[in-house]
Amino acid sequence: MVSEKPRIVIIGAGMAGLTAANKLYTSSKELFELLVVEGGTRIGGRINTSEFCGDRIELGATWIHGIGGSPVHKIAQEINSLESEQPWECMGGILEDPLTIAEGGYELNPSFVESISSLFKNLMELAQGKMIDEDGEIVERMKQAAALTAGNLSVGSFLRQGLDAYWRITNDENLDVNGVGNWSGKSLQEAIFAMHENTQRTFTSAGNLHTLDYNAESEYKMFPGEEITIAKGYLSVIQSLTSVLPAGLIQLGLKVVKIEWQPETKKNMEINNGWPVKLHFSDGSTMYADHVIVTVSLGVLKQGIRQDSGLFSPSLPSFKTGAISRLGYGVVDKMFLQVSNSNEDQEINGCNPKFPLLQMVFHQSDSNFRHTKIPWWIRRTASLSPIYSNSRVLLSWLAGKEALHLESLNDEEILNGVSTTVSNLLSHNLCYSAGIPQPKFDKVLRTKWGTDPLFLGSYSYVAVGSSCDDLDSLAEPLPNDSSSSSLSSPLQILFAGEATHRTHYSTTHGAYFSGLREANRLLKHYNCIGV
Ligand SMILES: Cc1cc2nc3c(=O)[nH]c(=O)nc-3n(C[C@H](O)[C@H](O)[C@H](O)COP(=O)(O)OP(=O)(O)OC[C@H]3O[C@@H](n4cnc5c(N)ncnc54)[C@H](O)[C@@H]3O)c2cc1C
Ligand SMILES: *[C@@H]1O[C@H](CO)[C@@H](O)[C@H](O)[C@H]1NC(C)=O
Ligand SMILES: *[C@@H]1O[C@H](CO)[C@@H](O)[C@H](O)[C@H]1NC(C)=O
Ligand SMILES: *[C@@H]1O[C@H](CO)[C@@H](O)[C@H](O)[C@H]1NC(C)=O
Ligand SMILES: *[C@@H]1O[C@H](CO)[C@@H](O)[C@H](O)[C@H]1NC(C)=O
Repeated sequence: MVSEKPRIVIIGAGMAGLTAANKLYTSSKELFELLVVEGGTRIGGRINTSEFCGDRIELGATWIHGIGGSPVHKIAQEINSLESEQPWECMGGILEDPLTIAEGGYELNPSFVESISSLFKNLMELAQGKMIDEDGEIVERMKQAAALTAGNLSVGSFLRQGLDAYWRITNDENLDVNGVGNWSGKSLQEAIFAMHENTQRTFTSAGNLHTLDYNAESEYKMFPGEEITIAKGYLSVIQSLTSVLPAGLIQLGLKVVKIEWQPETKKNMEINNGWPVKLHFSDGSTMYADHVIVTVSLGVLKQGIRQDSGLFSPSLPSFKTGAISRLGYGVVDKMFLQVSNSNEDQEINGCNPKFPLLQMVFHQSDSNFRHTKIPWWIRRTASLSPIYSNSRVLLSWLAGKEALHLESLNDEEILNGVSTTVSNLLSHNLCYSAGIPQPKFDKVLRTKWGTDPLFLGSYSYVAVGSSCDDLDSLAEPLPNDSSSSSLSSPLQILFAGEATHRTHYSTTHGAYFSGLREANRLLKHYNCIGV
């Protein structure tokens, strides 16, 4: 029997889908028949709060990127989620006073490191279009360089031009005085610079910064204010969105394999009893709808438009597939380790046995790799650090092919790789020669966002060759062809999800805004804004 009410099916129970469900349900309670179908066995999507060795950790989304104006922060505050008895990831903010050690065990002078760190920071701020205080020579040169290559410039090549400009300008004769062991001063500077590039790879999910578009960088928006984590876990925000929904509105374990839609109205709308959209699930069942809101990740969409997959039938129009193909979507994983904490509180010979915020500086050229056993997949990891001061849980972020490789390793391979790396870095450390036992790693937990078929990656970015317009195209509902829209049912397929937000893509609040946007689009269509 065909329902009297318009039926809206939301695909995906992540931040975008649940925000849309919350908005549609609370604004129109009885107007729609509303359903959320989720392929996995839990809600939250790329938000997955968990526990490791007694600490609360986040396997996916971790930070509120600026509390000023963030809807996620607003919810977290309202539900009292910003305080907790149980320790949580980054509860004291980001740790300070990093210990920076170069491969071979050479501890680097903080002021030497700082000169490169601040160069890197200034270059990124320049790329992001922020005002920077200094209008020094490098800034001038970089502005010129950026203007010259306008169009196809990548963040990666912009950064390297910046480093070259720095070397030309400083022309530091003393550079090689700063060398240690096998390192020349210049090779150290380059490797410190690369360490910051590696952090940037995890921020953006662009495994290779040469594929990250320079021009889009300045359109990306951050909220003002501090960046914080959520004490009671990111999942508490998700639970708050779902708490008002009736039982049964969210159905888990229903994976969509095909979305049939009607770009042009057939003469006889009798097919499908007049339903414009038909969903097929992996268990063989089907479901009809008037509107579906697709919130699956850009990675799932990329996979879905491949010929052999055919998630959409008929295929999506070319403006849509073009945007999906051009936009970037990368892999970022988190690796948690438990470190054994012998002598936790005792200082020995003036040494503090607590594991530091360790910044790792690795040799850059392949020819140097053969001499050590540090595995290649760790060599582009910027840091290893306790998740808060005193925690026995350490965390590293990995991106790109290194992250994908991490996903394929077993626990023992990971623990061995990390131990080898840390012993190399600490080999000259006076404290560890003076009686403090070397840290031992007992346990590991790492995410697998890249290989999980429900995500196929972590978050999106604007790749060289695409632009922010592609994010808008992704948000465009279908059918959108003016020549046929008068004939066919409107708003059959709507798109939400972080990758559909022009200025806040890649974030939870971007996903939130996109869900709100599509819910409002439908409410407006049915003239019930403000109901
Ligand atoms: C490691 C990591 C760290 C991050 N850190 C941060 C951070 O610090 N701050 C921040 O703001 N953001 C962060 N993010 C990004 C943030 O998590 C995402 O942008 C946001 O959660 C995406 O929400 P979404 O609703 O768009 O997509 P998703 O959460 O991916 O929701 C889509 C849902 O669709 C389901 N699905 C997929 N295919 C199908 C199918 N065929 N049928 C049915 N259901 C399907 C999925 O299971 C999923 O539940 C991070 C992400 C990762 C992976
Ligand atoms: C989410 O976390 C649980 C453990 O808390 C884990 O079993 C599951 O694999 C995680 N899912 C993803 C996609 O990371
Ligand atoms: C950008 O690259 C494309 C193809 O590689 C080229 O056709 C175009 O001229 C380039 N644009 C600029 C501004 O360099
Ligand atoms: C670095 O120096 C050590 C000892 O001085 C040597 O054994 C090693 O091969 C050198 N490594 C490189 C990459 O040159
Ligand atoms: C369809 O979407 C494309 C891409 O965003 C847009 O350029 C075009 O104007 C849209 N057409 C209509 C009729 O809305």
